[in-house]
Amino acid sequence: MKSLFGKLADGTKVHRWSLENGGTRLKVLNWGGVVQGLEIPDRHGHYTNVALGFDNIDDYVAKTPYFGALIGRYGNRIAKGQFTLDGKSYQLSVNDGVNSLHGGKQGFDKHIWDVEPFAKGSDVGLVLHYTSIDGEMGYPGTLKAKVTYTLTRHGDWIIDYEATTDKATVVNLTSHVYWNLAGEGSGTVEDHELTIAAGRYTPTDTGLIPTGELAKVSGTPFDFRKTKTIGRDIRDGHVQQVQAKGYDHNWVLDKGITSKPEHVATLREPRSGRTLKIATDQPGLQFYSGNFLDGTLTGTGGRTYRQGDALCLETQHFPDAPNHPNFPSTVLRPGQTYRTRTVHTFGA
Ligand code: GLA
Repeated sequence: MKSLFGKLADGTKVHRWSLENGGTRLKVLNWGGVVQGLEIPDRHGHYTNVALGFDNIDDYVAKTPYFGALIGRYGNRIAKGQFTLDGKSYQLSVNDGVNSLHGGKQGFDKHIWDVEPFAKGSDVGLVLHYTSIDGEMGYPGTLKAKVTYTLTRHGDWIIDYEATTDKATVVNLTSHVYWNLAGEGSGTVEDHELTIAAGRYTPTDTGLIPTGELAKVSGTPFDFRKTKTIGRDIRDGHVQQVQAKGYDHNWVLDKGITSKPEHVATLREPRSGRTLKIATDQPGLQFYSGNFLDGTLTGTGGRTYRQGDALCLETQHFPDAPNHPNFPSTVLRPGQTYRTRTVHTFGA
């Protein structure tokens, strides 16, 4: 079902598609491919929207928390917005202090995408297209991106990312849904339980740029190999947490890059019993504990979002990989197709 969500300043219409399958209800905008709502039942069958969002287009245009958005061309930060590829230096759009974050000032989250609905067997979904021209935000090559959102008959939400380029470039696409499995606007996620299958993470400097080290999680608050609540160690005072105001790091997934998605993280909200399991073929997972939410944004339910009222689990290649030869490569060349998949499985 397609409806009018709002209009941009130049009159362009922003639409919202509502899909439902297998007990999951998804609302998606052609603006940024934004997941504007995602409703799932609790153990008593009671539906709640578990994804943070705005109820109007103006906030999506003016504000940049990246609620529910597709992120490109490069998820997370590139130091000083600079990198060198095949001997050429590139300067990207800088929008986070001296660094480039989530594709720069006008990333994939701040563009209109072409959206086509589909139904295939027992699946329903949307195919989203966006073409980023050569030089956009400083990135080389015309990048043609295609993202498919699928809702399966089991209620799984699958994201398939594809991209091609006509010049060597770097690419790292992800999705920036903010989860609160008790319901958006219901308060802190500190009681959510989280498991991440990663023995290492990438520590950062004060600008949240990886130092290049793959540090062991053992004996630190970053150890989520055994299920624990998000709140348990979040005030531990570890220098990495103090710098980031909580968790805002890339976990180095034990499985590495895989040809098929493998289960890497489980999130559970004890009162509702709602669970989210994430499987990916990607080597990294950014766990961000909503540190920059500061009570100034009003969400879809009319309540404000405060620090820690949601968390993001962004499947990805590592931040700043173009400047770290020891990180898995994010280079895409003409003739190659970038293809990655992330699967979200919901339960209660
Ligand atoms: C990512 C980053 C955070 C922050 C959020 C958006 O998760 O790692 O530092 O920029 O996006 O606010």
